[in-house]
Amino acid sequence: MALKVSLILAAWSAAVSATVQNPAVSPRPPMGFNNWARFMCNLNETLFVETADAMLEKGLLAAGYNHINLDDCWPLKERNNASELQWDPKLFPHGLKWLGDYFHERGFSFGIYTNAGNMTCGWYPGSQDHEEIDAKTFEKWGVDYLKVDGCHMDLQKGRSYYEEFEYRYKLWHEVMTTKLKKPFIFSQSAPAYFSPNFHLDLNNTDWYRTMDYIRSSGELARHSDDIKVYGNNDNNTFEPGGHWESMMNNYGMEVRLSRYQSCGFYNDPDFLIVDWPDLSMDEKKTHFTLWSSFSAPLILSAYIPALTPSDISYLTDPDILAVDQDALCEQATLVSQNENEAIDTLTKNLANGDRLLTVLNKGNATTTLSIPLERLGIDPDATYTAKDLWSKKSHNVTEQITVTLRKRQTAIFRFSSLSRTPIPVTPTGQVFNTFSMNCLTAGSSGHYSGGVRFAACEGSDEQVWVVDGKGRYSPLSAPERYLTANAGGKVTLERKKAEVGGVGGR
Ligand SMILES: *[C@@H]1O[C@H](CO)[C@@H](O)[C@H](O)[C@H]1NC(C)=O
Ligand SMILES: *[C@@H]1O[C@H](CO)[C@@H](O)[C@H](O)[C@H]1NC(C)=O
Ligand SMILES: *[C@@H]1O[C@H](CO)[C@@H](O)[C@H](O)[C@H]1NC(C)=O
Ligand SMILES: *[C@@H]1O[C@H](CO)[C@@H](O)[C@H](O)[C@H]1NC(C)=O
Ligand SMILES: *[C@@H]1O[C@H](CO)[C@@H](O)[C@H](O)[C@H]1NC(C)=O
Ligand SMILES: *[C@@H]1O[C@H](CO)[C@@H](O)[C@H](O)[C@H]1NC(C)=O
Ligand SMILES: *[C@@H]1O[C@H](CO)[C@@H](O)[C@H](O)[C@H]1NC(C)=O
Repeated sequence: MALKVSLILAAWSAAVSATVQNPAVSPRPPMGFNNWARFMCNLNETLFVETADAMLEKGLLAAGYNHINLDDCWPLKERNNASELQWDPKLFPHGLKWLGDYFHERGFSFGIYTNAGNMTCGWYPGSQDHEEIDAKTFEKWGVDYLKVDGCHMDLQKGRSYYEEFEYRYKLWHEVMTTKLKKPFIFSQSAPAYFSPNFHLDLNNTDWYRTMDYIRSSGELARHSDDIKVYGNNDNNTFEPGGHWESMMNNYGMEVRLSRYQSCGFYNDPDFLIVDWPDLSMDEKKTHFTLWSSFSAPLILSAYIPALTPSDISYLTDPDILAVDQDALCEQATLVSQNENEAIDTLTKNLANGDRLLTVLNKGNATTTLSIPLERLGIDPDATYTAKDLWSKKSHNVTEQITVTLRKRQTAIFRFSSLSRTPIPVTPTGQVFNTFSMNCLTAGSSGHYSGGVRFAACEGSDEQVWVVDGKGRYSPLSAPERYLTANAGGKVTLERKKAEVGGVGGR
């Protein structure tokens, strides 16, 4: 398979992330509401007014959920005589300028949706060849945030499908930065149209090529599948099934992309689905915990007026939101995945010098496990205070931390040091092939000449790699050896010479 092999090393992403040109457009991952996954095309003024009122009243705005975004199906099927898009006056009797004012007066920003192709996914007029006029129309209505989807792309001037997307998203970026008083927060769906599940005839090459440019053209990358919607678009009745799997699918796409994220540009694994009756509270909190560990956008798709106090309570948890909105904007990366036990472990740095640990139980049984602290890239002999951000309990740990997780539950801990801030961190994590998702695996003792191979991830020390001050990769199972290639290109694990120096990295 010809693919761009993208090795991702946990903890390293921030160090290699390029900066985007203007992080000030969205200095932190956006938080808010979008109607799509919950209501699809069943949107109207009443829904948005009720949503704004409820977000205010229930404390969601105060917690930071300040964007209210319309998705597809808001326009009339025809442009007006001036070629402008028009809202559907049956759905929005006071109009969208009025609705935008309603949001702004209450402290919300106003988001809207269009399409880079010539029609929206729901067959309303698209913005292809109308980029500037549509941007100016949205500006006139007071729009602050724009999602541009990628359905119905008309290939022009001999451009390939890939080239047409690149041309259109870069054009949108140019229009927003040169033709408007201030650029919208730009949510870009281009990568989703090249993601592994979307076009099975394509390969990851175009997905990563898209990711390479997209962080220079906007603030968000909708990188893969839509989260599975609530139910039937015709009558908005709930259809159970597949929602946990959809969440896990998008999580599995997100972990492939950590190196792209830095403040100002966010990988977007799609909406948080809050009031889906087939999700347990543990599953919903897992969703929120993982997305927050990623510093992902937290865009709720739910009927907000009916959210329960327990829903609001977890969605506004200040400790978890602080991880999402952390000033480093790091996306937590995989330390290890154990496919047999269905346990994933992730970590990242936090701006105050703390270290984060997130542990996901994808399985169906309660599990207790111990995680050696060296897997977090921190000195296992030191003592840390580990705060469980859900239970709010702190305890002092050294060498290892023991965690018990129910079915599909996720734990999240903030490690702080009793003696050293920031905690010294050695880049540590699994190295995986982002196409096969197999893990780089060291040969076992006595078999180093066999070098390394990609194998199913099982969370062993042979699959957790540490980077030293000289940039050399060693497996935790054999720290005295490092990865190298001989003249013939064969990758082996050589023994380090005696003079090896200290440990670098953050
Ligand atoms: C993968 O996609 C790239 C870009 O479209 C193409 O050049 C390459 O031939 C493809 N490889 C395979 C094996 O399909
Ligand atoms: C507005 O949309 C909501 C959600 O789909 C629906 O329940 C309600 O009946 C609609 N109201 C009007 C006035 O169309
Ligand atoms: C739009 O143009 C058509 C045809 O020229 C005309 O009949 C119609 O009155 C115009 N509508 C508006 C709102 O100006
Ligand atoms: C949109 O593009 C498609 C594909 O090229 C084309 O068949 C269709 O006629 C176009 N539709 C509009 C409304 O321009
Ligand atoms: C909603 O629509 C689906 C498919 O059209 C249908 O099977 C279902 O019975 C409808 N449900 C209700 C409550 O009308
Ligand atoms: C958990 O149970 C579901 C439903 O029975 C099953 O589809 C899934 O494969 C199980 N997950 C694991 C990790 O065993
Ligand atoms: C952790 O250890 C420090 C230093 O001994 C102590 O002050 C603190 O109370 C301990 N914290 C917990 C939660 O036990």
